[in-house]
Amino acid sequence: VTGVSIAGVGSTSFGRHDGRTPQDLGIMAARDAILDAGIDRGDIDAVYLGNFVSGVLTGQEVLAGLVAHGLGLSGVPATKVEGACASGGIAFRHAVMAVASGQARAALAVGVEVMTGRDTPVVTGALNCALDNASDGATGLSFPGFFGLVWRAHAARYGTTRAQVAAVAVKNKRHGLRNPLASLGADLTGEAVASSRLVADPIRLLDCCGVSDGAAAVVVTASDRLPRTARPRIDVLAAAQSSGPPRFSAFDDMTSFPATVAAAKMAYAQAGLGPKDIDLVELHDCFTVAEIIDSEDLGLVPRGEGGVWAVEGRTDIGGDIPINPSGGLLAKGHPVGATGLGQVFEVVRQLRGEHPNPVGDARVGMAHNLGGAGIACTVSILGRVDG
Ligand SMILES: CC(C)(COP(=O)(O)OP(=O)(O)OC[C@H]1O[C@@H](n2cnc3c(N)ncnc32)[C@H](O)[C@@H]1OP(=O)(O)O)[C@@H](O)C(=O)NCCC(=O)NCCS
Repeated sequence: VTGVSIAGVGSTSFGRHDGRTPQDLGIMAARDAILDAGIDRGDIDAVYLGNFVSGVLTGQEVLAGLVAHGLGLSGVPATKVEGACASGGIAFRHAVMAVASGQARAALAVGVEVMTGRDTPVVTGALNCALDNASDGATGLSFPGFFGLVWRAHAARYGTTRAQVAAVAVKNKRHGLRNPLASLGADLTGEAVASSRLVADPIRLLDCCGVSDGAAAVVVTASDRLPRTARPRIDVLAAAQSSGPPRFSAFDDMTSFPATVAAAKMAYAQAGLGPKDIDLVELHDCFTVAEIIDSEDLGLVPRGEGGVWAVEGRTDIGGDIPINPSGGLLAKGHPVGATGLGQVFEVVRQLRGEHPNPVGDARVGMAHNLGGAGIACTVSILGRVDG
Protein backbone atom coordinates (compact mmCIF):
# COMPACT_ATOMS: atom_id res chain seq x y z
CA VAL A 1 0.00 0.00 0.00
CA THR A 2 1.34 3.47 -0.82
CA GLY A 3 -0.14 6.93 -0.50
CA VAL A 4 -2.79 6.15 2.13
CA SER A 5 -2.71 7.77 5.57
CA ILE A 6 -4.85 7.62 8.66
CA ALA A 7 -6.61 10.97 9.00
CA GLY A 8 -8.64 10.32 12.15
CA VAL A 9 -9.78 7.70 14.64
CA GLY A 10 -12.65 7.43 17.11
CA SER A 11 -13.99 4.85 19.51
CA THR A 12 -16.68 4.41 22.13
CA SER A 13 -15.78 2.48 25.25
CA PHE A 14 -16.17 -1.29 24.91
CA GLY A 15 -18.51 -2.77 27.52
CA ARG A 16 -22.19 -2.13 28.22
CA HIS A 17 -24.13 0.57 26.40
CA ASP A 18 -27.66 -0.05 27.64
CA GLY A 19 -30.38 1.37 25.42
CA ARG A 20 -28.07 2.20 22.49
CA THR A 21 -28.69 0.77 19.03
CA PRO A 22 -25.84 -0.36 16.76
CA GLN A 23 -26.39 2.71 14.57
CA ASP A 24 -26.20 5.02 17.64
CA LEU A 25 -22.79 3.61 18.58
CA GLY A 26 -21.51 3.58 14.99
CA ILE A 27 -22.46 7.24 14.53
CA MET A 28 -20.82 8.20 17.85
CA ALA A 29 -17.49 6.58 16.93
CA ALA A 30 -17.60 7.88 13.35
CA ARG A 31 -18.32 11.47 14.44
CA ASP A 32 -15.28 11.32 16.71
CA ALA A 33 -13.13 9.96 13.88
CA ILE A 34 -14.28 12.67 11.44
CA LEU A 35 -13.68 15.38 14.06
CA ASP A 36 -10.23 13.92 14.79
CA ALA A 37 -9.47 13.86 11.04
CA GLY A 38 -10.26 17.53 10.59
CA ILE A 39 -11.35 16.89 7.00
CA ASP A 40 -14.43 18.15 5.23
CA ARG A 41 -16.96 15.32 5.47
CA GLY A 42 -17.82 16.06 1.82
CA ASP A 43 -14.47 14.42 0.97
CA ILE A 44 -15.68 11.06 2.32
CA ASP A 45 -16.55 9.18 -0.85
CA ALA A 46 -17.19 5.73 0.64
CA VAL A 47 -18.31 4.10 3.90
CA TYR A 48 -17.53 0.49 4.89
CA LEU A 49 -19.14 -0.92 8.02
CA GLY A 50 -18.04 -4.11 9.78
CA ASN A 51 -20.72 -5.94 11.73
CA PHE A 52 -21.34 -9.60 12.47
CA VAL A 53 -24.35 -10.46 14.66
CA SER A 54 -26.56 -7.40 14.94
CA GLY A 55 -29.07 -8.89 12.52
CA VAL A 56 -29.55 -11.92 14.77
CA LEU A 57 -29.23 -10.14 18.14
CA THR A 58 -30.96 -6.82 17.51
CA GLY A 59 -33.05 -7.46 14.39
CA GLN A 60 -31.33 -4.57 12.61
CA GLU A 61 -29.50 -4.82 9.30
CA VAL A 62 -28.59 -2.16 6.66
CA LEU A 63 -26.29 -0.58 9.24
CA ALA A 64 -23.88 0.91 6.69
CA GLY A 65 -26.67 2.96 5.13
CA LEU A 66 -28.15 3.92 8.49
CA VAL A 67 -24.80 5.15 9.82
CA ALA A 68 -23.97 7.03 6.59
CA HIS A 69 -27.37 8.72 6.65
CA GLY A 70 -27.04 9.58 10.34
CA LEU A 71 -23.72 11.28 9.57
CA GLY A 72 -25.20 13.33 6.74
CA LEU A 73 -23.36 11.27 4.12
CA SER A 74 -26.45 10.17 2.22
CA GLY A 75 -25.65 9.33 -1.36
CA VAL A 76 -22.17 7.85 -0.86
CA PRO A 77 -21.76 4.11 -1.41
CA ALA A 78 -22.23 2.52 2.03
CA THR A 79 -21.38 -1.15 2.26
CA LYS A 80 -21.60 -3.62 5.14
CA VAL A 81 -18.90 -6.29 5.24
CA GLU A 82 -18.98 -9.44 7.35
CA GLY A 83 -16.24 -11.89 8.27
CA ALA A 84 -17.31 -12.92 11.79
CA CYS A 85 -14.98 -11.39 14.41
CA ALA A 86 -12.74 -10.01 11.62
CA SER A 87 -15.51 -7.81 10.19
CA GLY A 88 -13.92 -4.60 11.49
CA GLY A 89 -10.50 -5.38 10.03
CA ILE A 90 -12.14 -6.20 6.69
CA ALA A 91 -13.98 -2.84 6.70
CA PHE A 92 -10.64 -1.10 7.32
CA ARG A 93 -8.98 -2.87 4.40
CA HIS A 94 -11.84 -1.96 2.07
CA ALA A 95 -11.57 1.70 3.04
CA VAL A 96 -7.81 1.61 2.40
CA MET A 97 -8.36 -0.03 -1.00
CA ALA A 98 -10.99 2.56 -1.98
CA VAL A 99 -8.46 5.35 -1.38
CA ALA A 100 -5.45 3.46 -2.78
CA SER A 101 -7.32 2.78 -6.03
CA GLY A 102 -8.29 6.43 -6.42
CA GLN A 103 -12.01 5.66 -6.16
CA ALA A 104 -12.32 7.73 -2.99
CA ARG A 105 -10.54 10.89 -1.75
CA ALA A 106 -11.25 9.75 1.79
CA ALA A 107 -13.12 6.73 3.14
CA LEU A 108 -14.70 5.92 6.48
CA ALA A 109 -14.48 2.48 8.09
CA VAL A 110 -16.80 1.81 11.04
CA GLY A 111 -17.08 -1.33 13.16
CA VAL A 112 -19.98 -1.87 15.50
CA GLU A 113 -21.68 -4.51 17.64
CA VAL A 114 -24.39 -4.55 20.33
CA MET A 115 -24.45 -7.85 22.26
CA THR A 116 -25.07 -7.37 25.97
CA GLY A 117 -28.84 -7.01 25.82
CA ARG A 118 -29.29 -10.73 25.18
CA ASP A 119 -28.68 -13.76 27.40
CA THR A 120 -25.40 -15.64 26.98
CA PRO A 121 -26.99 -18.74 25.30
CA VAL A 122 -28.56 -16.49 22.65
CA VAL A 123 -25.22 -14.69 22.10
CA THR A 124 -23.40 -18.04 21.94
CA GLY A 125 -25.87 -19.25 19.30
CA ALA A 126 -25.36 -16.07 17.27
CA LEU A 127 -21.55 -16.36 17.46
CA ASN A 128 -21.83 -19.96 16.24
CA CYS A 129 -23.02 -18.53 12.90
CA ALA A 130 -19.25 -18.15 12.31
CA LEU A 131 -18.88 -21.95 12.03
CA ASP A 132 -19.67 -24.08 9.01
CA ASN A 133 -22.80 -25.33 10.71
CA ALA A 134 -23.63 -27.95 8.12
CA SER A 135 -20.54 -29.87 9.28
CA ASP A 136 -19.17 -28.42 12.53
CA GLY A 137 -22.62 -27.77 14.00
CA ALA A 138 -22.94 -31.45 14.80
CA THR A 139 -19.93 -31.27 17.15
CA GLY A 140 -21.89 -29.11 19.60
CA LEU A 141 -18.84 -26.90 20.05
CA SER A 142 -19.08 -23.21 20.86
CA PHE A 143 -16.04 -20.90 20.67
CA PRO A 144 -14.84 -21.50 24.26
CA GLY A 145 -15.04 -25.24 23.51
CA PHE A 146 -13.14 -24.89 20.24
CA PHE A 147 -10.34 -22.85 21.86
CA GLY A 148 -10.21 -25.40 24.66
CA LEU A 149 -9.33 -28.05 22.04
CA VAL A 150 -6.76 -25.72 20.48
CA TRP A 151 -5.19 -25.21 23.93
CA ARG A 152 -4.95 -28.96 24.52
CA ALA A 153 -3.29 -29.45 21.14
CA HIS A 154 -0.74 -26.68 21.83
CA ALA A 155 -0.03 -28.07 25.30
CA ALA A 156 0.40 -31.61 23.94
CA ARG A 157 2.85 -30.51 21.24
CA TYR A 158 4.85 -27.79 23.00
CA GLY A 159 4.32 -28.42 26.71
CA THR A 160 2.45 -25.14 27.20
CA THR A 161 1.40 -24.88 30.85
CA ARG A 162 -1.56 -23.42 32.71
CA ALA A 163 0.75 -20.82 34.31
CA GLN A 164 2.02 -19.69 30.90
CA VAL A 165 -1.50 -19.30 29.52
CA ALA A 166 -2.65 -17.45 32.66
CA ALA A 167 0.24 -14.98 32.24
CA VAL A 168 -1.51 -13.65 29.13
CA ALA A 169 -4.62 -12.75 31.14
CA VAL A 170 -2.60 -11.23 33.99
CA LYS A 171 -0.73 -8.96 31.53
CA ASN A 172 -3.71 -7.91 29.39
CA LYS A 173 -6.05 -7.31 32.34
CA ARG A 174 -3.35 -5.15 33.95
CA HIS A 175 -2.95 -3.17 30.72
CA GLY A 176 -6.71 -2.71 30.62
CA LEU A 177 -6.64 -0.89 33.95
CA ARG A 178 -4.74 1.91 32.19
CA ASN A 179 -7.16 2.12 29.24
CA PRO A 180 -10.32 4.16 29.94
CA LEU A 181 -12.10 2.42 27.02
CA ALA A 182 -11.62 -1.07 28.56
CA SER A 183 -14.34 -2.58 30.76
CA LEU A 184 -12.61 -5.72 32.07
CA GLY A 185 -9.24 -4.50 33.35
CA ALA A 186 -8.11 -6.04 36.66
CA ASP A 187 -5.14 -6.61 38.90
CA LEU A 188 -4.93 -10.40 39.01
CA THR A 189 -2.61 -13.25 39.87
CA GLY A 190 -2.13 -16.32 37.71
CA GLU A 191 -3.74 -18.37 40.49
CA ALA A 192 -6.85 -16.20 40.33
CA VAL A 193 -7.12 -16.83 36.57
CA ALA A 194 -6.55 -20.57 37.03
CA SER A 195 -9.20 -20.86 39.74
CA SER A 196 -11.88 -18.70 38.07
CA ARG A 197 -15.16 -20.37 37.06
CA LEU A 198 -14.83 -23.25 34.57
CA VAL A 199 -16.38 -22.46 31.17
CA ALA A 200 -15.18 -25.20 28.75
CA ASP A 201 -12.30 -27.21 30.18
CA PRO A 202 -9.49 -26.03 30.27
CA ILE A 203 -10.91 -22.55 29.49
CA ARG A 204 -12.03 -20.62 32.58
CA LEU A 205 -13.90 -17.33 32.91
CA LEU A 206 -10.77 -15.15 33.02
CA ASP A 207 -9.42 -16.87 29.89
CA CYS A 208 -12.39 -15.47 27.91
CA CYS A 209 -13.02 -12.15 26.21
CA GLY A 210 -16.19 -10.42 27.28
CA VAL A 211 -19.52 -10.14 25.50
CA SER A 212 -19.62 -6.38 24.79
CA ASP A 213 -21.18 -3.42 23.02
CA GLY A 214 -19.05 -0.85 21.23
CA ALA A 215 -17.97 0.86 18.04
CA ALA A 216 -14.76 2.21 16.54
CA ALA A 217 -14.08 4.16 13.36
CA VAL A 218 -11.17 5.26 11.18
CA VAL A 219 -11.01 7.84 8.39
CA VAL A 220 -8.36 7.11 5.77
CA THR A 221 -7.32 9.57 3.10
CA ALA A 222 -4.85 10.01 0.28
CA SER A 223 -1.62 11.10 2.01
CA ASP A 224 -1.38 14.24 -0.16
CA ARG A 225 -4.84 15.35 1.02
CA LEU A 226 -4.06 15.02 4.71
CA PRO A 227 -4.77 18.28 6.56
CA ARG A 228 -1.62 19.82 8.07
CA THR A 229 -1.49 19.29 11.83
CA ALA A 230 1.24 19.24 14.45
CA ARG A 231 0.68 15.47 14.85
CA PRO A 232 2.96 12.92 13.23
CA ARG A 233 1.61 11.45 9.99
CA ILE A 234 0.51 7.80 10.24
CA ASP A 235 0.69 5.83 6.98
CA VAL A 236 -0.93 2.53 6.10
CA LEU A 237 2.07 0.36 5.18
CA ALA A 238 0.02 -2.84 4.71
CA ALA A 239 -3.63 -3.91 4.76
CA ALA A 240 -3.79 -7.66 4.09
CA GLN A 241 -6.70 -10.09 4.23
CA SER A 242 -6.81 -13.85 3.89
CA SER A 243 -9.21 -16.75 4.31
CA GLY A 244 -8.60 -20.08 6.03
CA PRO A 245 -10.06 -23.59 6.35
CA PRO A 246 -13.83 -23.37 6.80
CA ARG A 247 -14.25 -26.22 9.26
CA PHE A 248 -12.42 -27.98 12.12
CA SER A 249 -12.06 -31.19 10.16
CA ALA A 250 -10.17 -29.26 7.46
CA PHE A 251 -7.44 -28.26 9.94
CA ASP A 252 -4.15 -30.12 9.42
CA ASP A 253 -2.86 -28.70 12.66
CA MET A 254 -4.88 -27.27 15.57
CA THR A 255 -1.89 -25.29 16.91
CA SER A 256 -1.84 -22.68 14.13
CA PHE A 257 -4.33 -20.63 12.09
CA PRO A 258 -3.30 -20.74 8.41
CA ALA A 259 -5.27 -17.55 7.70
CA THR A 260 -3.06 -15.61 10.14
CA VAL A 261 0.12 -17.07 8.67
CA ALA A 262 -1.02 -16.11 5.15
CA ALA A 263 -2.20 -12.59 6.05
CA ALA A 264 1.01 -11.88 7.98
CA LYS A 265 3.12 -13.01 5.03
CA MET A 266 1.19 -10.68 2.70
CA ALA A 267 1.37 -7.79 5.14
CA TYR A 268 5.14 -8.06 5.67
CA ALA A 269 5.63 -8.21 1.89
CA GLN A 270 3.40 -5.17 1.28
CA ALA A 271 5.22 -3.15 3.93
CA GLY A 272 8.69 -4.40 3.01
CA LEU A 273 9.21 -5.16 6.70
CA GLY A 274 9.73 -8.19 8.91
CA PRO A 275 8.66 -9.21 12.42
CA LYS A 276 11.69 -7.51 14.01
CA ASP A 277 10.49 -4.14 12.68
CA ILE A 278 7.22 -4.27 14.63
CA ASP A 279 7.28 -2.14 17.80
CA LEU A 280 3.90 -3.25 19.15
CA VAL A 281 0.96 -5.42 18.13
CA GLU A 282 -2.72 -5.42 18.96
CA LEU A 283 -3.68 -9.02 18.23
CA HIS A 284 -6.78 -11.18 18.49
CA ASP A 285 -6.73 -12.56 22.06
CA CYS A 286 -10.35 -13.76 22.10
CA PHE A 287 -9.11 -16.39 24.58
CA THR A 288 -5.78 -16.44 26.44
CA VAL A 289 -4.39 -19.31 24.38
CA ALA A 290 -5.28 -17.47 21.16
CA GLU A 291 -2.72 -14.77 22.00
CA ILE A 292 -0.01 -17.41 22.31
CA ILE A 293 -0.86 -18.96 18.95
CA ASP A 294 -1.35 -15.60 17.18
CA SER A 295 2.05 -14.36 18.37
CA GLU A 296 3.66 -17.45 16.81
CA ASP A 297 1.56 -17.32 13.60
CA LEU A 298 2.54 -13.65 13.10
CA GLY A 299 6.21 -14.64 13.36
CA LEU A 300 6.70 -12.36 16.38
CA VAL A 301 7.60 -15.23 18.73
CA PRO A 302 9.34 -18.51 17.81
CA ARG A 303 6.94 -21.42 17.13
CA GLY A 304 5.96 -23.19 20.34
CA GLU A 305 7.45 -20.52 22.62
CA GLY A 306 4.44 -18.19 22.92
CA GLY A 307 3.66 -19.41 26.43
CA VAL A 308 7.28 -19.17 27.57
CA TRP A 309 7.58 -15.60 26.26
CA ALA A 310 4.32 -14.62 27.99
CA VAL A 311 5.36 -15.94 31.40
CA GLU A 312 8.85 -14.41 31.09
CA GLY A 313 7.41 -10.93 30.38
CA ARG A 314 8.89 -10.80 26.87
CA THR A 315 5.46 -9.82 25.43
CA ASP A 316 4.89 -7.07 28.01
CA ILE A 317 5.66 -3.37 27.57
CA GLY A 318 9.43 -3.09 27.77
CA GLY A 319 9.84 -6.68 26.52
CA ASP A 320 10.90 -7.99 23.08
CA ILE A 321 7.48 -7.40 21.50
CA PRO A 322 4.75 -5.60 23.46
CA ILE A 323 1.46 -7.41 22.82
CA ASN A 324 -1.92 -5.80 23.47
CA PRO A 325 -0.90 -2.73 25.48
CA SER A 326 -4.59 -1.69 25.20
CA GLY A 327 -5.62 -4.74 27.23
CA GLY A 328 -6.76 -6.55 24.07
CA LEU A 329 -10.06 -8.34 23.75
CA LEU A 330 -9.55 -9.92 27.18
CA ALA A 331 -9.59 -6.57 29.01
CA LYS A 332 -11.35 -4.23 26.59
CA GLY A 333 -14.15 -6.68 25.75
CA HIS A 334 -14.99 -7.99 22.27
CA PRO A 335 -17.89 -6.31 20.49
CA VAL A 336 -17.19 -8.62 17.58
CA GLY A 337 -17.79 -6.34 14.54
CA ALA A 338 -16.01 -3.40 16.21
CA THR A 339 -12.85 -5.13 17.44
CA GLY A 340 -10.71 -4.85 14.28
CA LEU A 341 -11.21 -1.08 14.08
CA GLY A 342 -10.70 -0.78 17.84
CA GLN A 343 -7.27 -2.36 17.29
CA VAL A 344 -6.40 0.18 14.56
CA PHE A 345 -7.59 2.97 16.89
CA GLU A 346 -5.23 1.72 19.63
CA VAL A 347 -2.23 1.36 17.29
CA VAL A 348 -2.74 4.86 15.87
CA ARG A 349 -2.86 6.34 19.38
CA GLN A 350 0.40 4.53 20.19
CA LEU A 351 2.18 5.78 17.06
CA ARG A 352 1.02 9.34 17.67
CA GLY A 353 2.34 9.15 21.25
CA GLU A 354 -1.19 9.69 22.62
CA HIS A 355 -1.86 6.31 24.25
CA PRO A 356 -2.69 6.09 27.98
CA ASN A 357 -0.56 2.93 28.27
CA PRO A 358 2.34 3.89 26.02
CA VAL A 359 4.98 1.74 24.36
CA GLY A 360 7.94 4.14 24.26
CA ASP A 361 8.73 5.71 20.87
CA ALA A 362 6.70 3.23 18.81
CA ARG A 363 7.22 3.80 15.06
CA VAL A 364 5.63 0.70 13.50
CA GLY A 365 2.52 -1.06 14.82
CA MET A 366 0.49 -4.06 13.73
CA ALA A 367 -3.19 -4.98 14.10
CA HIS A 368 -4.34 -8.61 13.75
CA ASN A 369 -8.04 -9.53 13.57
CA LEU A 370 -9.20 -13.16 13.26
CA GLY A 371 -12.70 -14.32 12.37
CA GLY A 372 -14.50 -17.50 13.44
CA ALA A 373 -12.31 -20.57 13.73
CA GLY A 374 -9.81 -18.85 11.41
CA ILE A 375 -11.99 -18.51 8.30
CA ALA A 376 -11.06 -14.84 7.83
CA CYS A 377 -8.10 -12.78 8.92
CA THR A 378 -6.71 -9.28 8.46
CA VAL A 379 -3.25 -8.02 9.31
CA SER A 380 -2.51 -4.30 8.99
CA ILE A 381 0.79 -2.49 9.51
CA LEU A 382 0.88 1.22 10.27
CA GLY A 383 3.94 3.44 10.43
CA ARG A 384 4.75 6.88 11.79
CA VAL A 385 6.30 9.27 9.29
CA ASP A 386 8.40 11.95 10.96
CA GLY A 387 9.17 15.40 9.61
C1 LIG B 1 -17.36 -16.54 29.36
C2 LIG B 1 -18.84 -16.31 29.18
C3 LIG B 1 -19.51 -17.61 28.76
C4 LIG B 1 -19.42 -15.83 30.53
O1 LIG B 1 -20.80 -15.65 30.38
P1 LIG B 1 -21.82 -15.94 31.64
O2 LIG B 1 -21.37 -17.17 32.31
O3 LIG B 1 -23.21 -15.88 31.10
O4 LIG B 1 -21.52 -14.73 32.57
P2 LIG B 1 -22.51 -13.53 32.92
O5 LIG B 1 -22.69 -12.67 31.71
O6 LIG B 1 -23.75 -14.10 33.58
O7 LIG B 1 -21.65 -12.72 33.98
C5 LIG B 1 -21.41 -13.23 35.29
C6 LIG B 1 -20.26 -12.47 35.91
O8 LIG B 1 -19.04 -12.77 35.20
C7 LIG B 1 -18.49 -11.57 34.64
N1 LIG B 1 -17.99 -11.92 33.31
C8 LIG B 1 -18.71 -12.36 32.27
N2 LIG B 1 -17.90 -12.60 31.22
C9 LIG B 1 -16.65 -12.31 31.63
C10 LIG B 1 -15.39 -12.36 31.01
N3 LIG B 1 -15.27 -12.78 29.76
N4 LIG B 1 -14.32 -12.00 31.71
C11 LIG B 1 -14.43 -11.56 32.99
N5 LIG B 1 -15.61 -11.51 33.64
C12 LIG B 1 -16.70 -11.87 32.96
C13 LIG B 1 -19.64 -10.61 34.58
O9 LIG B 1 -19.18 -9.27 34.64
C14 LIG B 1 -20.44 -10.97 35.81
O10 LIG B 1 -19.81 -10.43 36.96
P3 LIG B 1 -20.64 -10.01 38.25
O11 LIG B 1 -21.26 -11.28 38.76
O12 LIG B 1 -19.59 -9.43 39.17
O13 LIG B 1 -21.65 -9.01 37.78
C15 LIG B 1 -19.07 -15.19 28.12
O14 LIG B 1 -18.42 -14.00 28.53
C16 LIG B 1 -18.56 -15.60 26.77
O15 LIG B 1 -19.20 -16.36 26.05
N6 LIG B 1 -17.37 -15.08 26.34
C17 LIG B 1 -16.77 -15.45 25.08
C18 LIG B 1 -17.41 -14.70 23.93
C19 LIG B 1 -16.96 -15.25 22.63
O16 LIG B 1 -16.89 -16.44 22.41
N7 LIG B 1 -16.66 -14.35 21.67
C20 LIG B 1 -16.19 -14.74 20.35
C21 LIG B 1 -14.78 -15.19 20.45
S1 LIG B 1 -14.19 -15.95 18.99
